[in-house]
Amino acid sequence: MKKRIAVLASGRGSNFQAVIEAIQGGKIPATCVGLITDNPDAYAIERASKAKVPVIVIDYSLFSSRDLYEHALLSAMRQVRADLFVLAGYMRIIGPPIVSSFPGKIINIHPALLPCFTGLHAQRQAVRHGVKVSGCTVHFVDDSLDGGPIILQRCVRVQEGDDEDSLAERILEHEHVCLPEVIKLFCEDRLEIVGRTVRIR
Ligand code: GRF
Repeated sequence: MKKRIAVLASGRGSNFQAVIEAIQGGKIPATCVGLITDNPDAYAIERASKAKVPVIVIDYSLFSSRDLYEHALLSAMRQVRADLFVLAGYMRIIGPPIVSSFPGKIINIHPALLPCFTGLHAQRQAVRHGVKVSGCTVHFVDDSLDGGPIILQRCVRVQEGDDEDSLAERILEHEHVCLPEVIKLFCEDRLEIVGRTVRIR
């Protein structure tokens, strides 16, 4: 049975695009049942329209509190009846009520080798720290900030003269490989969370 996946994105949506292409190319046995975005101007919306993926916009700026926004987001997530929610450049923290509603069903891509450089501007943090290797991580989402069980990581060498943008660009190429790969594993029922570890069967 094909899995139903939904993507949450706030902006450009290049990771979303990589997922769509992997599905269209037959690499992932899934249907993308929706793009959910908090930003009505997200370029990801255009990508969804081209791929005929239904879009749900929950404009964060129209809500008077974070709780009300999250309530609407939770309803939208229930509505799409997805087996897996993929945070692909979704720039907000997912609150505990949502996390506990979908245990083991939300994953996130982060542009650093976790647990290093959590939160925003991970590539900038890496360059400023002077690390020689960074990369990307796909992990399950729990109540911590970028701290859930790690599924897959890819390394990227930091080169001399790299700045935040050049490093981000090279990491992004790896994100576009890593994220579809993890979704494929999930859709094939090959991921098992054992404590903090994710076993790939
Ligand atoms: C990616 O680097 C992702 O890891 C981070 O935000 C960026 C989103 O890029 N969370 P895009 O919207 O997928 O192009």
